[in-house]
Amino acid sequence: MNTNAGDGHKVGSWATYRRLLGYTRRHWPIAVLAVIGMIVDASALTGFTSLIKPMLDNLFTARDPHTIFWMPFWIVGIFSLRGLGAFMENYGTSLIGLNVVQQMRMDIFDAYLRMPSSFFNRESSGHQIARVTYTCEQVSNASTQAVKVAITDGLTVIGMVGLMLWTSAFLTLALLIMVPVVTIVVTYISRRYRRIGKKVQNVMGRVTGSVDEVVNGQREVKIYGAQRNERDRFEDVTQTARRLNMKVAITSSLSSATVQTVAAGSLALIIFMATRKPIIDTLTPGSFTTMLIAMGAILPSLKRLTGVQAGIQRGVAAAEELFEIMDMPPEADTGSQNISRCQGEIRYTDVHMRYPGAHVPALRGIDLHCKPGTVTALVGRSGSGKSTLVSMLPRFYEPSAGHIELDGRPLDDFTLAALRRQIAWVGQRVVLFNDTVANNIAYGELAGASEQETIAAAEAANAMEFIRELPNGLHTVIGQGGNQLSGGQRQRIAIARAVLKNAPILILDEATSALDTESERLIQQALNRLMRDRTTLVIAHRLSTIEHAHQIAVLDQGRVIEQGTHEQLLARGGTYAALHRMQFHDHDSALTGTD
Ligand SMILES: Nc1ncnc2c1ncn2[C@@H]1O[C@H](COP(=O)(O)OP(=O)(O)O)[C@@H](O)[C@H]1O
Ligand SMILES: [Mg+2]
Repeated sequence: MNTNAGDGHKVGSWATYRRLLGYTRRHWPIAVLAVIGMIVDASALTGFTSLIKPMLDNLFTARDPHTIFWMPFWIVGIFSLRGLGAFMENYGTSLIGLNVVQQMRMDIFDAYLRMPSSFFNRESSGHQIARVTYTCEQVSNASTQAVKVAITDGLTVIGMVGLMLWTSAFLTLALLIMVPVVTIVVTYISRRYRRIGKKVQNVMGRVTGSVDEVVNGQREVKIYGAQRNERDRFEDVTQTARRLNMKVAITSSLSSATVQTVAAGSLALIIFMATRKPIIDTLTPGSFTTMLIAMGAILPSLKRLTGVQAGIQRGVAAAEELFEIMDMPPEADTGSQNISRCQGEIRYTDVHMRYPGAHVPALRGIDLHCKPGTVTALVGRSGSGKSTLVSMLPRFYEPSAGHIELDGRPLDDFTLAALRRQIAWVGQRVVLFNDTVANNIAYGELAGASEQETIAAAEAANAMEFIRELPNGLHTVIGQGGNQLSGGQRQRIAIARAVLKNAPILILDEATSALDTESERLIQQALNRLMRDRTTLVIAHRLSTIEHAHQIAVLDQGRVIEQGTHEQLLARGGTYAALHRMQFHDHDSALTGTD
């Protein structure tokens, strides 16, 4: 099933190489330095090997005093030069490699920042994290380590072959029969590496994902005693990772074993050929030893050169995945209208919406009109489409049919930034960032707010009372996700954020549903303050909190089935009235209690 993809790959991989090179282009002076280092490194080795012949023939056979005097200096000189070359090459490749990793990480991070919401439903967050941590490293290995081996060892092989040709062309040419064998091995191995490389990346994403889930869901794991299942699942994934990496290791050692065998065969061949009658007369002990040593020096280089395929293939597979993400279309932001503060008139006209990949639409023909400064409550069973409806206002999702207007203009007339500046949002799940309380309230574009403004917002959100009791007050760092705070406290910080934003439109998606009565009272009070003079869309579980809304829309299976004020809907005796009766009854029995 992958045969077609194989052909496409070759074209794709050239483009990938070129684009990868683009990442190093900025560092070309360092690259030049590194390449010079590689050339020096390789030629020093060839230079040393070329000293073998004079050493043997002149030092011992001819006892030439000039050679005897200079030989130690040549050797020290050559190896110092080689040391310098090796330093330049390692320094250069590390510098470029680390820069490429950082640049790639930034590019992927930037891509994540401009992706539409639907992108984040597509795959687990583990994959998204692994791309930044693991996959980027793979790319850097390809663009530096592999290149280093390719150039240094490539040049060593060329130099050595040149030296051999110069020493004895006949013997060297006789060794050419080994070329096709090496080519076959290398081709086979590179294909295999590419195949495994993709799989390794994928499985690394699953490893991160598994950890991510257990760390975030540690409570659920404990309460439901899922340690065993999670452990098994993790073992499964890591086992797959180990198995795949083992395949890489086996492929790599098989390839070097093959190369060694081929090389040993060649050595044997040299000895055999060299000892034949016409040849043996033309060879000095020096040239014969040079042939053997050059052949021996080619060996480790050839071994590394076949291994280099592993690095490059893995890196290219990694880069392909990263580039694919970078090339994904960002959120559509074609509007040009820039408003500082809208009136807040919202109109949904026959809005349909189906999530990508979903079989049934989440919304099927929503008509809703919210006058500026009024409160609209959305009620309905879970899954009826309430959250979907409100998430289309900041354009997290686009309608598949119908349209939404703000102040009489289609939403996509506005720039995304201008549109979202009009909206404050308090959701059920409050996300706090790993920063101080003050910076969590004055978040993003609100960062310029003064301390007084931040405090005023916290006061209005009934949050200041608990913030004062924190070890460093407003400047207490709350951990990632804000785990030290209770649900109600987190909610109040989110409300303070919304107060500070002071946007004309307010969206409350079950902002109070997870709270106890006391915090609910405090929060409801804060919310009532917040809703004043704003166009508010409120989704509430408890109907008691929305009785005073200007209008109530009852949703069912993506449609508005009833609409009106609390009194109108009660009088109508439909779904809302039934819901209300049920909650009232529940409330009643909760008060009386069960014996
Ligand atoms: N990100 C999503 N991807 C696919 N389907 C979704 C997504 N979010 C919600 N849905 C589906 O859309 C429907 C409406 O969901 P939602 O708007 O969250 O309902 P509510 O907020 O009223 O509980 C449900 O059937 C739900 O399964
Ligand atoms: Mg919801």
